[in-house]
Amino acid sequence: MTAAIVGCPFSGGQPRVGVDQGPVHMVEAGIVDQLTALGWKVKFDGHHQFEEVNAITDPPIGKLKNPRLVSAVTKAVANVVGGHAKMGELPVTLGGDHSLAMGTISGTLDAHPDACVIWIDAHADINTAETTDSGNIHGMPVSFLLGLGSPIPEFSWVKPALKAERLVYIGLRDIDAGEKRILKENNIKAFSMHEVDRYGIGKVVEMALDHVNPKRASPIHLSFDVDALDPSVAPSTGTPVRGGLTFREGHYICEAIWETGLLVALDLMEVNPSLADAASVKQTVTVGCSLVRSALGETLL
Ligand code: ARG
Ligand code: MN
Ligand code: MN
Ligand code: MN
Repeated sequence: MTAAIVGCPFSGGQPRVGVDQGPVHMVEAGIVDQLTALGWKVKFDGHHQFEEVNAITDPPIGKLKNPRLVSAVTKAVANVVGGHAKMGELPVTLGGDHSLAMGTISGTLDAHPDACVIWIDAHADINTAETTDSGNIHGMPVSFLLGLGSPIPEFSWVKPALKAERLVYIGLRDIDAGEKRILKENNIKAFSMHEVDRYGIGKVVEMALDHVNPKRASPIHLSFDVDALDPSVAPSTGTPVRGGLTFREGHYICEAIWETGLLVALDLMEVNPSLADAASVKQTVTVGCSLVRSALGETLL
């Protein structure tokens, strides 16, 4: 089997510099060799070079920051991920900020229209142009994929290809008021840290799969924001929130999704090596790599 590493050094969906270096650090840490050692044929032809859109020609649209840049980059990512998926390869996208998932999931749904999405995150990333406070598009990709909010011509390439019932969240704990409303109104299934505490991670993953994939027959796109993990486990990320997944809970999710045999695409997002001290950076990059390995079949025994 072939895994295609899609390195996306991109930070335009949020204001903090450095998250664009996440994929560079994960590749330098040896993710390509690590997946090869697991038995994968790994394709990696260098990190993607994205077009430059200058801030002067990219003023905010409403509250949305860097809208043309984010649109152009995520559109390119959609084509790359969709292309790999159509060739039967497993795209592993390394971010970069989570706005990139607008591209990765569009690409997956283009190749596998029946795919479901399992979104692991402290945040729901489902703000619309109307509800966003920050204007950071990494807090918004899910709403674009679902077709929520008023249409923005600059993003007209994004097809509302994701159905609310094909989406499930695990790990949530920092949801904006407008996002809570959106989750309720659209009946979107979400397992917050409260449910992880109550049921345990094994039961939560089973319930999540029962919701989006009751017959265990449809392809799975796993989008993993490293800030789903507790900041003590993954400190180097732009929007850390305490009370997150433990090291094992994060890895268990990846292992259990791999065990379904249905994984068709993986995102590992929001590793920011310029935040925190060197030891924290190394810890976060290392955990990012080990989550990817777990999702691609590494077992403990
Ligand atoms: N909800 C906040 C916002 O919309 C935070 C989003 C954080 N997203 C992320 N991908 N880390 O700005
Ligand atoms: Mn490539
Ligand atoms: Mn997040
Ligand atoms: Mn996120």
